Amino acid sequence: MEQDVGLAPRTGHRAAGASAPGKVWLVGAGPGDPDLLTVKAARLLASAKVVLHDLLVGDGVMALVPPAARRICVGKRDRRHTLPQEEINALLVQLAAAGEQVVRLKGGDPYVFGRGGEEAVALAAAGIPFEVVPGITSAQGMSAYAGIPLTHRGHASSVVFATGHCREGAEGPDWEMLARPQQTAVIYMGLGALPAICRQLVAHGLPPDTPAAVVQQATTPHQRVVCGTLLTLPVLASAREIAPPALIVVGEVVRMHPSLGWFAPVAAQSLAEEPSLR
Ligand SMILES: C[S@@+](CC[C@H](N)C(=O)[O-])C[C@H]1O[C@@H](n2cnc3c(N)ncnc32)[C@H](O)[C@@H]1O
Repeated sequence: MEQDVGLAPRTGHRAAGASAPGKVWLVGAGPGDPDLLTVKAARLLASAKVVLHDLLVGDGVMALVPPAARRICVGKRDRRHTLPQEEINALLVQLAAAGEQVVRLKGGDPYVFGRGGEEAVALAAAGIPFEVVPGITSAQGMSAYAGIPLTHRGHASSVVFATGHCREGAEGPDWEMLARPQQTAVIYMGLGALPAICRQLVAHGLPPDTPAAVVQQATTPHQRVVCGTLLTLPVLASAREIAPPALIVVGEVVRMHPSLGWFAPVAAQSLAEEPSLR
């Protein structure tokens, strides 16, 4: 039963039979493939009674929620938040205070660009017991399924995860740090700013022919990989109509995709642009 987020939460009374405040589990749903859920996440989902989930959580994972469970989609896709974060925090607190055992299901890992920290802070402040169940973050899922190791001897000895989405009035990413050589940079929520990101990385010292890729819907049947360089990738990604959710990955490790990209979903096209890497 999917519930409209506009519906007011049940407040002011305890869940049937509940004698104590409830509890919230902040659960990482992983990048898409339901087989990548942790055993703990799958166990919690199988017995869930109330699930608050993001738009990014795919159908395969939601299929593990019992049909009788109450599902509340609180949305969140790039800048279009279905429910403001403060209201999500308040809803979690209200549900648990009313005695509910709540699974808060978030794409990837709750503590990687997922605002799970803000939800945990709100729960802690309200004295609501909670647990956090880590998930495979999309950068890790992308790395494995697209055949782009995050570190690799001789190519990258460090990896950095950054966001390409900046809050209004906030400073942008630390371009100097992102443009270090011998490093892999994975940029979340950056697709809309892909041309600017590639330009900034070149302006801060990376050669224009540095390998770079975008990976859309990693680990799902709709995964698509487009490889190019900092110079060519914006045009290639736009020509292939790559759409969110997608990650940008920059570094020498991108060269390994043609030989290590084992995952060939039926729904996807092979879009590697090998010649542009040379
Ligand atoms: C709000 S962040 C959430 C990240 C999430 N907590 C995680 O650990 O992956 C959303 C962004 O994650 C990235 N993302 C999430 N799932 C993805 C997937 N399956 N394939 C590619 N990118 C993904 C995209 O950059 C998307 O815009």
